[in-house]
Amino acid sequence: MTNIIPEPNLEFKPEFKKINLKDFFSFVSASQEVEEFLKITIEIAEKRGEFLYFAGGVVRDYLLKRKTFDFDLVLEGNLQEFLKELAKKVKGKVVFKSQFLTFKFKLELKERKHFFVDFITARKEEYPEVACLPKVMPASWKEDVKRRDFTINSLIVGLSPPYKGILVDSFNGIKDLEKGLIRPLKPDSFVEDPTRIFRGIRYKVRFNFEFAEEFFNALEMCYQIQALKKLSSSRLRNELLLFLNKEPEENLFDLIETARQFKVLENAEITVERKMLISLCKILKEVKKEILPRERDKFFLLALSYSPENVERLGFSKEEKDKLIKYFKKFEEVYRKWGKLKIWEKVEFFEKIPLFFVLFLGIRFRDLREDVIRFVKEWRKVKPELTGGEIKNFGIKDGKRIGEVLRILRRHKLEGKLCQKLDEIKFLKEIEKMWGL
Ligand code: CTP
Repeated sequence: MTNIIPEPNLEFKPEFKKINLKDFFSFVSASQEVEEFLKITIEIAEKRGEFLYFAGGVVRDYLLKRKTFDFDLVLEGNLQEFLKELAKKVKGKVVFKSQFLTFKFKLELKERKHFFVDFITARKEEYPEVACLPKVMPASWKEDVKRRDFTINSLIVGLSPPYKGILVDSFNGIKDLEKGLIRPLKPDSFVEDPTRIFRGIRYKVRFNFEFAEEFFNALEMCYQIQALKKLSSSRLRNELLLFLNKEPEENLFDLIETARQFKVLENAEITVERKMLISLCKILKEVKKEILPRERDKFFLLALSYSPENVERLGFSKEEKDKLIKYFKKFEEVYRKWGKLKIWEKVEFFEKIPLFFVLFLGIRFRDLREDVIRFVKEWRKVKPELTGGEIKNFGIKDGKRIGEVLRILRRHKLEGKLCQKLDEIKFLKEIEKMWGL
């Protein structure tokens, strides 16, 4: 084992730069109403003598000229009291309060629209244990900046005195933005919070940036202390789902491949092979419009687990795991004769298991991929032209029988034998004779 490289925290050396607030507002405000809301918020902060500022992604994106309508407002002061005052002056209210001194404020807009703003108390964090959620306590803006993940996310823009209209760059974040570097503020940043590694990967791929040396050092320390292993399944699952759902679809391969290459997944106790990853991205692309987000998430997580045996690491319950193992065994029995099965037999087998599991089979068994994609896109949608009611008119009254007829019609249709309604009617007449109706 290599020794942990002793490395100091980055130096806190704030630099102050005047900016045009009007410019900033029009950049972050989705509408005139939001801009008006910001003005009222600032008036309250000024009246209360509390420092209000934008922090994190919104400042970074402003400097990168990447449009964003999602912003965090931080208050050095009593946020609860502040928001009570705000709720009296605008149409809106706090809809969520977290254990981390943050509040979600829902602002009502015209035409029954609304806008959410995240309000955060300037705070410092203490991590009682590796990879656990922190204890937070109100603190000064300086502490608030020092607790953050990367230099590029530590920039703030002041909205009220003492730094109204001032961009405060405490850790050379602007230089790193210009150089395109992702640099953690502290060597134990990822030991405290390993989810930051996944955040860093998202920024790297999203902005096409590089990791600074400090990133690798922090990663090394995290691996030595095995902090990623201690990251809870639900937090790990959430981070991976952000790869899938928060970033542009075309970045998914690079995101996971980066995590794989730098052994992040391995250290989090997940094994992902490149070949499997290629398959996963291919199938996701093919079926994206065909499946529900919930189904897609589960497929993605199951694929990353590789085997149903490992799914608990990605947040599946023990019961879910047992079910998935059962499905897998069931499939292994059928797999031996898969090539000889008729389409309808394949369809009926797939319909007995959840859709996300079907997709997973397409990854684990390369020769199944085409069938899986055809099942999702075409086969499962095949239905007889005749309805239950129409079949009744043929004299078949019993509900069970009607179901049986519909199933037979569908099977034939899947095999390409019945193309039109007329064919089905003809076929039905034959059945009638056969059944002596
Ligand atoms: N933050 C942090 N460590 C974390 C999560 C968040 O230091 N584990 C800080 C960062 O300063 C970040 C800010 O909280 O900028 C807000 O977090 P979030 O809204 O998750 O991210 P954004 O920076 O807004 O980036 P994104 O564009 O991904 O939403």
